[in-house]
Amino acid sequence: MKPMQVELSQVDKRFGKVHALRSLDLVLPPGAKVALIGPNGSGKTTLIRVLLGLVQHRGQVRIDGAAVRREALAPRVAYVPQIAPQLAASCRELVRTVATLRGLTEARVAELAARLALELPEIADRPFRSLSGGSKQKLLIALALAARPDLLILDEPTASLDAEARGRFFTLSRELAGEATLILCSHRLEEIRSLVDHVVALADGRVSYQGDAAHYLAQRVGSVLELKVEGDEPWLSEHGFAQGASGWWSRSVDRQTKLALVPAAGSALGTRLLDLVVRDIDLVELRGEGRRA
Ligand SMILES: Nc1ncnc2c1ncn2[C@@H]1O[C@H](COP(=O)(O)OP(=O)(O)OP(=O)(O)O)[C@@H](O)[C@H]1O
Ligand SMILES: [Mg+2]
Repeated sequence: MKPMQVELSQVDKRFGKVHALRSLDLVLPPGAKVALIGPNGSGKTTLIRVLLGLVQHRGQVRIDGAAVRREALAPRVAYVPQIAPQLAASCRELVRTVATLRGLTEARVAELAARLALELPEIADRPFRSLSGGSKQKLLIALALAARPDLLILDEPTASLDAEARGRFFTLSRELAGEATLILCSHRLEEIRSLVDHVVALADGRVSYQGDAAHYLAQRVGSVLELKVEGDEPWLSEHGFAQGASGWWSRSVDRQTKLALVPAAGSALGTRLLDLVVRDIDLVELRGEGRRA
């Protein structure tokens, strides 16, 4: 295994009137674990497709310092697309084909699928396209991780997974991503933070941040505090909490306020505090909540 360095220079892509990527420059060092984030339509999937040679574009893509052809790249890359292909082939045929191409055993794929709570023997005869969205995603993830690629690209891999499957996915990916360069698209940076060390943020086809994940998170991630109390509590409204339809009180806070408010709520409310939840959120979302409040 030799992790890839990926370099994009002056990459530009238009779809008719839509300017999806705008003169984009990007360097991902070998072995980097990258969160590719940004709002819907900011160009994440297009960037990945450019990188893989799946769409025509302007500018250069270099792998390990040299331009490469798609065919040369394919054996070293594993890619889970955002939208699963509608394959008529059965799951058995799909696994067999990929396993043969990649030099894997079918047992290894089945083992990884089982770690994601997908039992291959139970679905082997079914057409891949007939699986539920989550099962399709699990099988594609198992195939990608089993391949032990030099570059692993996962476009919103957890979008269709339930909470338990997401947990299993994170455990498995941490275990198997190894030295590979990893690109992980997600709308939930706080969820994938344990898997990544780099962040590339796109906004309207441009890179708005590229660098260290810890630095990005420290600056951009805030929290929502949610409290459930017995009866009426003036302390909560006095401290900026608003009550939602479910009866829970909530407030968006930065890190320092969170650290101050949690113990303060505990001592002010005592046993009248029935429950407390702290959720990390991206500050883009936080600003949105601030506006609504
Ligand atoms: N094949 C295509 N034909 C026309 N326009 C396209 C095509 N693919 C992407 N686009 C446009 O390019 C822009 C970027 O799309 P892209 O799918 O890369 O965004 P994204 O960041 O992956 O969004 P999401 O978070 O919704 O997955 C969007 O305006 C989209 O409509
Ligand atoms: Mg996308």
